[in-house]
Amino acid sequence: MSVHNTRPRTTVTSLNKMKAEGQKIACLTAYDASFAEQLDDAGVDVLLVGDSLGMVVQGLDSTVPVTIDDMVYHTRATARGVNKSLLMADMPFMSFCTEEQALTNAARLMQEGGAHMVKLETTEGQIGIIRRLVDAGVPVCAHLGLRPQSVHKLGGYRVQGRDAESGESMLKEAVALEEAGADCLLLECVPAALAARITQTVGIPVIGIGAGADTDGQILVLYDILGISKGKRPKFSKDYLHGQGSVLAAAERYVSDVKAGVFPAAEHSFE
Ligand code: KIV
Repeated sequence: MSVHNTRPRTTVTSLNKMKAEGQKIACLTAYDASFAEQLDDAGVDVLLVGDSLGMVVQGLDSTVPVTIDDMVYHTRATARGVNKSLLMADMPFMSFCTEEQALTNAARLMQEGGAHMVKLETTEGQIGIIRRLVDAGVPVCAHLGLRPQSVHKLGGYRVQGRDAESGESMLKEAVALEEAGADCLLLECVPAALAARITQTVGIPVIGIGAGADTDGQILVLYDILGISKGKRPKFSKDYLHGQGSVLAAAERYVSDVKAGVFPAAEHSFE
């Protein structure tokens, strides 16, 4: 265990404190116990068992086929490597269509998987579901902007909120989600200026991926920072293994770059 693991456990309360004090939140995805242990030792605040596992672990073309059983399996494995990080798990496509279904599947991720928080790719129509989860005591991260589970509806993986109307509606949605009790927001592929506005407007922590430097925290897909993703690395990502001797060193560098505000640079952001 590295020196970082003398740090206190990351909780919803500590994430709020980090936002209030202007300390950046460093997050990465993880899908198994061995990587989780390295990333936790490196000082990563939040580990997300993302449904991106469908693409980077299972070799699928999208996250759409990922099931709740897949998510429970990988969350349980990842939880075994977690010591101080907060463990967030994705609710996969079609696993939260009704309040009842959302409660059952969130319970599985927390009780069988050991997640501390669940993440949902959210639309305005799902505010009632978020409120119901929150009422039941489930910590919730609401994912806005590019929602990869809707890739077939969106017609591709594109930056969201680029025009004034869609930007305003994302801002309103963020406020409504905060009012519904969401504990944090995740913004994916959103123009940097819009992400900064949302971050200043809401009181809950905002974590960005391809959302510029002014969100409260950053997240990347682990396989992208290790340079082992299939195809072209996304513009918003960076290969942190390059020039480092180990996964631990790469993750430590990522954490220190996020904390120092060095990552993301302008070249990793969208206008
Ligand atoms: O599934 C995932 O890994 C995610 C990240 C891209 C934030 O949602």
